Amino acid sequence: MSPQSLHLRLVRGRSDAGSPSAPIDPIAVLEVDHVLKLELCDALERLADGLPNETDTGLANAAVTVLRRGLPDHIELEERHLFPLLRRRIADDEIFRPVLEQLEYEHEHDDASAIEISEELERLAEVGQARNAEMLGYMLRGFFVTLRRHVYWENAMVLPLARRKLTENDLDELREAVVARSHRHAASRSTDAFIGIRPKTV
Ligand SMILES: [Fe+2]
Ligand SMILES: [Fe+2]
Repeated sequence: MSPQSLHLRLVRGRSDAGSPSAPIDPIAVLEVDHVLKLELCDALERLADGLPNETDTGLANAAVTVLRRGLPDHIELEERHLFPLLRRRIADDEIFRPVLEQLEYEHEHDDASAIEISEELERLAEVGQARNAEMLGYMLRGFFVTLRRHVYWENAMVLPLARRKLTENDLDELREAVVARSHRHAASRSTDAFIGIRPKTV
């Protein structure tokens, strides 16, 4: 099953999503994205635990795909669509505005680290050995710990806020962005799924 069809199945399978022909719930799509990001964290933890002697090249390659494509696409969806829409609805909110700023700061850091880690994992998958196992382990652990915390924050604070504050027009705009992303993925046949190889309970 492709990641897109998985998204649709999960999103449309929600009890509040209505009939099968009901429009996609764009916030539920972000929730599914977060499940995938937590699976990425589990995969990176497994790779870190296997260093320096065990190398799961399939897992390393899958992680690279998500780091290079799935994660930046998710960040773009939040920064170009979700966060601006939310800002319009919480203009005077002194608690949430700094939260969004902090999350954007973390996106920047994640983007940069994802590139470095991808390069190291590509090498790991290709030659079966890390250039510097200790350094890679350190990088992986720093990354997945931070990304898990980021996702937990967004699940606890941002997505519930979006459910409360976004208007129907906002949701339409977000839905369009989600659908456009799905079309881009389908066109490039990219994959962003750890479904089926989830190593640990999220
Ligand atoms: Fe985020
Ligand atoms: Fe997110």
